[in-house]
Amino acid sequence: MKEKNELIGIDEAETVALLRQMTGDEPVELSKRIRPFTTLLMQYRCAIREIETKLHVLNEEFSLEHERNPIELIESRVKEPASILEKMKRKGYELSVKQIEEKLNDVAGVRVICSFVEDIYYLASMLSAQDDLEVLKVKDYIKRPKKNGYRSLHLIIQIPIFLSSEKKYMRVEVQFRTIAMDFWASLDHKLKYKKNVKNPELIVEELRKCADTISKVDVRMQEIRNMIEEGNI
Ligand code: GTP
Ligand code: MG
Repeated sequence: MKEKNELIGIDEAETVALLRQMTGDEPVELSKRIRPFTTLLMQYRCAIREIETKLHVLNEEFSLEHERNPIELIESRVKEPASILEKMKRKGYELSVKQIEEKLNDVAGVRVICSFVEDIYYLASMLSAQDDLEVLKVKDYIKRPKKNGYRSLHLIIQIPIFLSSEKKYMRVEVQFRTIAMDFWASLDHKLKYKKNVKNPELIVEELRKCADTISKVDVRMQEIRNMIEEGNI
């Protein structure tokens, strides 16, 4: 499995600089005040590590048994402080560490890029069945794609991390998708930020058609793999 180390840490200096810019406050004072915030980000990074380890274990076990990897790539990130603050403001929530933890499900995000659609459901069900975590929410945009054609399986997972003096439950958003779905989603994401598009309706329609084509390819790939495994070709 290729692994991109994308556990993007927001270091304290960076966060201090950002918040200082926003408030025009004194650095020392501020550094102390935002300590709970930087601590929270550290805890989310730890939760990501826990999820990643579980996925690596499942991948290793599967590849020994089936001689192939169900996971192509894992990409993880902790949401940027600026994006956290922007989302809290946009949704009208009070800006506090407690509220960030309570209201946001996607501060910690893990994206699992799989080879085949069946691998997505295999990994998601193996992960969900583990007794130290809890699945709080499932959004299956593969069985029910979004109107624009977006496909992925999203799980909101609550997982404990073990700190020096407490066991703390953290939420992580885990997105499972195939290489094909990821290809579509990343182009869709890029195009969303393009300004002055002349005919946005046409673009939306074209993207949706591409998503359908891509999905057919995923199904076909799965069928080919099944034929090979069953020894029919
Ligand atoms: P937020 O949008 O995160 O507030 O929550 P939500 O309840 O709308 O969550 P949803 O499961 O719909 O989307 C969460 C994440 O999935 C997003 O942050 C994106 O990473 C991804 N996503 C959802 N829809 C799309 C889409 O249409 N295009 C792309 N490229 N990504 C999407
Ligand atoms: Mg959304």
